[in-house]
Amino acid sequence: MSKVTETVCEHQVEMEKAPKMRRRSFLNYCVGATSLLFGGMSLYSVAKFLFPPGAFSAEAAGEAVTIPLVELPVGSAKNVRYKGIASIVIRTSEKNVHALSAVCTHLGCIVKWDSSKQVLVCPCHAAIFDINGNVVSGPAPRPLESFPVQFARDEIVIGEA
Ligand code: FES
Repeated sequence: MSKVTETVCEHQVEMEKAPKMRRRSFLNYCVGATSLLFGGMSLYSVAKFLFPPGAFSAEAAGEAVTIPLVELPVGSAKNVRYKGIASIVIRTSEKNVHALSAVCTHLGCIVKWDSSKQVLVCPCHAAIFDINGNVVSGPAPRPLESFPVQFARDEIVIGEA
């Protein structure tokens, strides 16, 4: 009798342990998967910061971008990609055009041209840049990068033609 009772008790103990082991394993898998997910996201963010899009493409070599004059009337701005960087081209007069990186030097948001105030404004933390890309106010630590601009017949050329 006691041998049967012992066997039953051992079996019962094993049965009680089994669900705990499965639950613990499941939780371990969840923690592991979550860690992998967040670790992967962190690595991706760091990689994107260190190697921005287009950094190794043909655009990075400095291919020129052309914009027909009719597409950029005086007082308007146009977003383009130059050297793989989101950029903004602003025409302030007949023969005055500015080409700047549109990537805010604070945390990388895309700045917008405010034609009424003649400044570039970052929508994220309100950094303000002048038409030459210099910081007017806000948390941006550096000016916006500016690019060479040339007029060629009825086009504006950003970069070396
Ligand atoms: S990202 Fe532009 S001010 Fe913060």
